[in-house]
Amino acid sequence: MAPMNSPGPLDALDEGALKELIAGELGAVRDRSFGLTTEVLAGDDLTAQVSPLMSPLVWDLAHVGNYEELWLLREAAGQEAMRPEIDDLYDAFEHPRAERPTLPLLSPAEARSYIGTVRAKVLDSLSSARFDTPDPLTSGGFVYGMVVQHEHMHDETMLATHQLRKGAPALLDPAAEPLQKPAEGSAAGEVLIEAGPFQMGTSDDPWAYDNERPVHLVDLPAYYIDVEPVTNAAYIAFMEAGGYDDPRWWDPAGWEWRNTSGKRAPAFWDGEGRQWLRRRFGRTEPVPPGEPVQHVCWYEADAYARWAGKRLPTEAEWEKAARWDPAAQRSRRYPWGEVYEEGRANLGQRTLRPSETGSYAAGASAYGVRRLLGDVWEWTSSDFHGYPGFRSFPYKEYSEVFFGPEYKVLRGGSWATHPLAVRGSFRNWDYPVRRQIFSGFRCARSAGEGR
Ligand code: AVJ
Ligand code: FE
Repeated sequence: MAPMNSPGPLDALDEGALKELIAGELGAVRDRSFGLTTEVLAGDDLTAQVSPLMSPLVWDLAHVGNYEELWLLREAAGQEAMRPEIDDLYDAFEHPRAERPTLPLLSPAEARSYIGTVRAKVLDSLSSARFDTPDPLTSGGFVYGMVVQHEHMHDETMLATHQLRKGAPALLDPAAEPLQKPAEGSAAGEVLIEAGPFQMGTSDDPWAYDNERPVHLVDLPAYYIDVEPVTNAAYIAFMEAGGYDDPRWWDPAGWEWRNTSGKRAPAFWDGEGRQWLRRRFGRTEPVPPGEPVQHVCWYEADAYARWAGKRLPTEAEWEKAARWDPAAQRSRRYPWGEVYEEGRANLGQRTLRPSETGSYAAGASAYGVRRLLGDVWEWTSSDFHGYPGFRSFPYKEYSEVFFGPEYKVLRGGSWATHPLAVRGSFRNWDYPVRRQIFSGFRCARSAGEGR
């Protein structure tokens, strides 16, 4: 078999170029954070909680700066804590989200000033940082990549808060029209992935998280996987066929969720029969039939798949379809190759919605599977566990404390995910009841099993 994952764009950069890239990305992600907080909202809209599932936006804002201080100033540069008395407030493990609005948080102005001071010190210490060290924390700029990705993740979380928010719209869609239209005559369907081993995970992607490591061989039986995520039109067909009312399609825990929650449609949908409407960032619009269904929980995805005579892909099946290049006998960083390129995936919040089936054909994987990255996070059937040989790095609270059967893995990122915060090996996880995230799914089935 060919060498494990080949080098990507970061590996080729010398230290100076990497520092320039890091400084630029730190600036870009901060612009995005302000664009979701102090630039568009004020007062209660920043300090109040819109849902017990979410933090007040001002908590996210100060938390990203506190995390940056902890990792880049204290851990990496050996500096003293700037404000040790606030560390506890922004420790996600000390205070669950529901409790955060009751804490004596920094005001929006104080948060802005605190994170600005942290950032100035970070840029100062970056100039003398060394990346060619044996310390895995700083080697290759890992810890800087971790901090940039962390802020991007919170920006996506803040977008979910915006989506849950009631009241006048605060966000303007940066693009009035979708950035890509579906190609003519694009057929969806499914593709066969032949039986055999593939390289799952990565050992040499410099900014990959501990849970993506190490690369290891996984041998899968043959299966079919959908070329595209399940659309709103297909999901409406499930609803109209009485999918929510037939316990045959539901996992027992899912049926329980259906009964106790009373939900009979994806989150943010409204209106019966003739025309389904959805609320998106404070505006109501018809549900677009060609977009992937979004804001469904794992139980809904699982029930749809069973109704369709299929099942959710395992995490390994998703990743093989996304990354494995059977001709080269190795896994790619992205479905299309090693280097991120604009126009191959709907990522980065360049529109506030998924694209339609048939778009982004240039993002297809070696097997011709499309829109694996971007658009909607895709639920898989897998629980979140460490790979064989997993070692927690650099802290247990990023991944390891979440390992276990309570969490399901999601893959591929959404339209809200920044390109630096996702790749073919990236793993996300959430409870199977969660719907506020930008989540959808695609189906799979074992080869040789009927529909
Ligand atoms: C990887 C998205 C599940 O939001 O809980 C943010 C990311 N970790 N701060 C989360 C994270 C620490 C994490 N997810
Ligand atoms: Fe965090």
